[in-house]
Amino acid sequence: MDYKITKDGSKTLFSQKYNQTFHSMQDGALSEALHKHILPALSIFDNAKELNILDICFGLGYNTLGTIYHILKNNLTIKVNFFSPEFDESLVDSLKDFEYPNEFDSIKDIIRELAIYKYYKDDNFEIKIFIGDARDYIKNLKNIDIVYQDAFSSDTNKELWTKEYFYDISKILSTKAVITTYSIATPVRMALFENNLFIYEYQSIIKKRSTIATNFEFNKIENMNIKYIDMDKKKLNSPNAISLSDKS
Ligand SMILES: C[S@@+](CC[C@H](N)C(=O)[O-])C[C@H]1O[C@@H](n2cnc3c(N)ncnc32)[C@H](O)[C@@H]1O
Repeated sequence: MDYKITKDGSKTLFSQKYNQTFHSMQDGALSEALHKHILPALSIFDNAKELNILDICFGLGYNTLGTIYHILKNNLTIKVNFFSPEFDESLVDSLKDFEYPNEFDSIKDIIRELAIYKYYKDDNFEIKIFIGDARDYIKNLKNIDIVYQDAFSSDTNKELWTKEYFYDISKILSTKAVITTYSIATPVRMALFENNLFIYEYQSIIKKRSTIATNFEFNKIENMNIKYIDMDKKKLNSPNAISLSDKS
């Protein structure tokens, strides 16, 4: 696969299979991981001592690795258990040679171990990469606090955006859980909403809108540039607001 240099200087890949880059070229691979997933999710859990994070899907691992980078850089005392499915074993094998941004220099050993063993553990972090289909894998998880929903776009990677997929996700969430995603598409938000999740629009400092879905009502709205989206109203105003489905 050909690598590409994104706007923040970090590298990503172009997938021929899905005909798209793994990250937004305009936002930057590392910036996207930090500003659409890691920072909003971790700020909601700012007092947590231990978190279970489901990273959909591993790809180049920016979301998992960026979370570790952020925690170490800010000396946060938190344990994180990562669970991440990925179809493409040869991609994960190749990550020991991938040129990550300098921010990941101090975690090169973690990257190497993940590429070789698909597993890493130390006192603060445990990472399990599952080689196979995410749809099967998620059914065996439980107590997930954060889902980084970062599949390819729904036109080519639909199985990871449907209401049936999000039903399985909703069943494995802890009592207070958050899903972060770059997608702001109404059919995706409807698929989340139809599984009794609250939908919010998040505006990060990189000025791109993204979506946060939660299974609890969120009350820090002003501080975090988060706006509640009334999906019932959206449905009334737009009869075409239909969720993605395995059957459609
Ligand atoms: C947009 S990329 C992930 C980006 C990732 N967060 C990163 O930092 O590189 C989507 C990834 O999902 C994987 N994938 C797509 N559908 C899958 C499925 N059903 N099960 C497992 N992996 C899947 C692809 O192989 C690809 O690596």
